[in-house]
Amino acid sequence: MFQIPRGTRDFTPEEMQKRRYVEEKIRSTFQQFGYKEIQTPTFETLELFTAKSGEAIIDELYAFKDKGGRDLALRPELTAPVIRFYVDKLQMESKPLKLFYFGNCFRYDRPQKGRYREFMQAGCELIGTDTPEGIAELIGLAYTILKSVGLKDLKLFIGNLNILSSIFKTFNISKEQQKKLTPLIDKSMFNDVVLCLKDFGISEKDAQKFKEVLQASDLKIILELTEKDEQAKNEMMKLKQIFELLKNVFEIKTCEIKMSIVRGLDYYKGVVFEIDAPTLGAEKQLCGGGAYELIPLFGGRETPTSGFAIGFDRTILALDVEEYNYPSLKLDFYVIPVNEEMISKSLEITQNLRKNGLSVDMDLLKRGMSKSLKYASSINVDKIIIVGQKELVDESVTIRDMKTGAQELVKIKDLYQNLR
Ligand code: HAM
Repeated sequence: MFQIPRGTRDFTPEEMQKRRYVEEKIRSTFQQFGYKEIQTPTFETLELFTAKSGEAIIDELYAFKDKGGRDLALRPELTAPVIRFYVDKLQMESKPLKLFYFGNCFRYDRPQKGRYREFMQAGCELIGTDTPEGIAELIGLAYTILKSVGLKDLKLFIGNLNILSSIFKTFNISKEQQKKLTPLIDKSMFNDVVLCLKDFGISEKDAQKFKEVLQASDLKIILELTEKDEQAKNEMMKLKQIFELLKNVFEIKTCEIKMSIVRGLDYYKGVVFEIDAPTLGAEKQLCGGGAYELIPLFGGRETPTSGFAIGFDRTILALDVEEYNYPSLKLDFYVIPVNEEMISKSLEITQNLRKNGLSVDMDLLKRGMSKSLKYASSINVDKIIIVGQKELVDESVTIRDMKTGAQELVKIKDLYQNLR
């Protein structure tokens, strides 16, 4: 027997129904905010992903050579592909350009619940504006999407990498030292951050102050530290404005400043944000994004960019934890021919009903009346059409209500009107 590859999953019809339902909700919210859907290929040239992150990222990729010896990779995310597409074909479009996508991504991660090697992202890129209103709308969109799919328990965190850089500068932490600190900050291992800082020769007092700033949710504490840095001060003002818009316009109550957001990808700069579903445990991050820079690196004309991606699989997991009530997918009718001679007439009726926009299935196994009825009660169908010889003479069929067991005789020509 063949095994499914590690970190991949099959989806049952029931799971697919849930996934498509949620996908449609997400799609319609993107559209409500003026975003347009695009699609890019599942694999790209390897260089697209190493250009910003360097060769080290190859360890996390599904990278391979094709038969022509070209270096390719399955996409680990869609921001770099979308920006490649933009620089190649969409630069002349009027701004701001609002693009969204659904796509499977591949990462050579260590699989666990909520972390897979093939997973799905729903994301977007906003090209051509970085006003506080633009960024607030972007973050508001991410939050609105997760709310609109039905999630109740969400937490939004906002940080800013330029401000974090300024804080690093204040404490005289070099670029090399930052590289060592960043993974610890990313994992919220703040005690290890303090130990690391002390190793760098920073005093206990300063190390503790640095830790306090990383954990501060009060803008004032951060403002005190960055007062002398003009750029950081401007970023702080912008952050404050975004924060207020999110509270007042988007009515997001669970929004916090978090300077320790560093994001895993190398292209971010400025505002960054994450949305968690606390109920999910270790892999609780549902969405991540922020402002970033890739266009100049890809040879395009500089313009501000920001975006986010929602982990679609984790969204479904979070809905399951919250015991979300999905609407059930129902067949309108199940058609049963009483014997073999009735099969072609049954198929004709089935097909006519489908032409009228109803979802209808019929017995194709010639399994006889009682087995067919048993089957019908095992699927989600309210009404059954029984096609019998006697009734057909009179151009009629029997309709049975599966809930009550009541039966009535209906003329075939009246069928469509009556059934609607
Ligand atoms: P990311 O944070 O790497 O950002 O991924 C976004 C989301 O994808 C995560 O928050 C998580 O929910 C989900 N995700 C990531 N890895 C896995 C995995 N192995 N299994 C299941 N879900 C996973 C990006 O990818 C950026 N491109 C987002 C962005 C768009 N930034 C700007 N524009």
